Amino acid sequence: MRVLSGIQPTGRFHLGNYFGAIRQYIELQHHDQAFYFIADLHALTTIRDKKQLRELTQDAALDLLALGLDPEQATLYQQSDVPEVTELTWLLMTVTQMSLLEKCHAYKDKIAKGLAADAGLFTYPVLMAADILAYDSNLVPVGQDQVQHLEVTRDIAQRFNHIYEQEVFVLPEGHVLKETSKVPGTDGEKMSKSYNNTIGIFEAPKKLRKKFMSIKTDSTPVEDSKEPETCSVFGLYKLFANDEEQQALAERYRAGGMGYGEAKQTLYEKAMEHFAEARERREKLEQNLSDVEDILQAGAKKAREKAREVLDRAREACGL
Ligand code: TRP
Repeated sequence: MRVLSGIQPTGRFHLGNYFGAIRQYIELQHHDQAFYFIADLHALTTIRDKKQLRELTQDAALDLLALGLDPEQATLYQQSDVPEVTELTWLLMTVTQMSLLEKCHAYKDKIAKGLAADAGLFTYPVLMAADILAYDSNLVPVGQDQVQHLEVTRDIAQRFNHIYEQEVFVLPEGHVLKETSKVPGTDGEKMSKSYNNTIGIFEAPKKLRKKFMSIKTDSTPVEDSKEPETCSVFGLYKLFANDEEQQALAERYRAGGMGYGEAKQTLYEKAMEHFAEARERREKLEQNLSDVEDILQAGAKKAREKAREVLDRAREACGL
């Protein structure tokens, strides 16, 4: 069994990314084989600044390793270090129907907004299909927003297999990540870069505290009883705390006498405690960037071996 997923380095990771995806990838690393990559080629559809792309790619690697991705357990690499994937993308493109891609949301949404889309955005799902198919991946953990792309991947694989009358590609299964109810942002909406309501993972403590303190709450006076289940502060606390701790804080909400400021401070301290080890690891990694580079290179080498094998199979099937 091979588990594979890609993460775009389009911004620093925040708590929404962590609880929505990264934590679950890390849990899945003990699968027979886990391949995780930083999808820098996909990021090119939105980031057009070389310094920024390099920084974000490095930050993504540092963050993942600091958060517990273990290179002994999982293969971590940079998408662009495996050129076999881009070659495979072309082979897949020749069997991909336009109508299939016209239905894909990233492209459709852009067009609906009256914006011009480039061919990169349009063919984005084919590159993603190549990312998956190049490694005979069995299981692809993704967020809800990527389910459509997974369907497209299966469609393309089936079509290729059908046209060339061979089982060239393994059909991958999607594994939709638990939405962990919802990770609330500072405004109470779903935490997302596009809503500008994110709380980072590795921000400086002072800045991070300020973010937690800025979470929107209602205006119930300190002495009154408060409802935890509709409060974003409590919603975030739940992600970090065990049942007992959750119950204890819920009781304090309901009893009255605790202001939201105090609840936010409790949340902040809990988050700092949760990421203390990761923060320490990240600082060490920052001092040893060549080690991080070595990890990515070793990952790419391993990934390329597998991708070469699959690409050769596909080339052979179509007569190249
Ligand atoms: N498109 C995915 C996203 O934006 C990232 C991605 C690229 C990916 N290639 C992939 C995810 C292959 C899973 C498998 O989140």
